[in-house]
Amino acid sequence: MKQIGKKDNNRLIESDLSIRIEDLHFSYKGSSKEVLSGLSLDIRGPQLVSVLGPNGAGKSTLIHCMNKILEPTGGNVWINGFNSREISIKELAKISSYVPYSSADSFPLTVVDTILMGRHPHSKWGSIDEDLRIVEESLKLLKIEDLADSMFNELSAGQHQKVMLARGFAQEPRILFLDEPTSNLDIKYQLEITRILRRMSREKGVLVVMISHDINIAAKYSDNIIVLHNRGIYSFGKPEDVITSEMLKEVYDVDAVITSDKGKPHLMLCDESEDVPLPEESSVCVPVKATEN
Ligand SMILES: Nc1ncnc2c1ncn2[C@@H]1O[C@H](COP(=O)(O)OP(=O)(O)OP(=O)(O)O)[C@@H](O)[C@H]1O
Ligand SMILES: [Mg+2]
Repeated sequence: MKQIGKKDNNRLIESDLSIRIEDLHFSYKGSSKEVLSGLSLDIRGPQLVSVLGPNGAGKSTLIHCMNKILEPTGGNVWINGFNSREISIKELAKISSYVPYSSADSFPLTVVDTILMGRHPHSKWGSIDEDLRIVEESLKLLKIEDLADSMFNELSAGQHQKVMLARGFAQEPRILFLDEPTSNLDIKYQLEITRILRRMSREKGVLVVMISHDINIAAKYSDNIIVLHNRGIYSFGKPEDVITSEMLKEVYDVDAVITSDKGKPHLMLCDESEDVPLPEESSVCVPVKATEN
């Protein structure tokens, strides 16, 4: 298929934000089993959308089909009205960024250089000062200025994840894809990052698509939620319509009670299974140091 020309590239950048998925099918090479089967979806405008679903439901695969890491085996993905098959990876990188699932991969670069890599799609001769200014802003936003000169491959899992987020933000995307962006973060940062993502949708007009396993945080901050199950979409809509005890039972096979926290659903897990008592010798204690006289 022909790639879009320069004039259309500008239209891709300037057009109203949308991701439209039309009868998407995907199976991995060498496998006859479909991971996604006939999925259709229309996301419009800046907002925070969370993708939920159990392990193996196809969430990462769906995002990879949206951002051209994978090519759908059937159907189409339209980004801002353009068929993604016609958009080059380079052009897509100018409007979207992707923060992958935190992996053990890391490179022997400083944190600043790692974040600077996010500026690559925009780099022009002579723009290094502007790039460094944006890198500094991203470090500040994530409150990791103190890590600027640290080596990326010597960071803790949570620090690693914050740097990857800073790199995604430094790309200044109009569409931001994130795969479990808070999985390694402490509870304060889980909330803080999700709030930043929501604010980006409001203040910078970004369409944020985030995979999450934290149903309560997704319910609290997302504008819309997509639940994947059985190779397709189980439900899609506002958190209060999607997060139900029926969904949790059918999709995750857990019993839960849903309460309301300022109009947003909040789940409490129920576990009726019988608890087996511990042997008496099991304990944890902190030995008290003998005081020296
Ligand atoms: N590279 C691959 N080759 C073959 N099969 C794959 C590959 N990656 C994923 N799969 C399969 O595709 C299915 C969906 O995987 P995917 O990673 O999209 O799930 P997920 O919803 O992101 O799960 P998780 O919550 O565990 O991250 C799974 O059955 C998985 O085994
Ligand atoms: Mg995944």
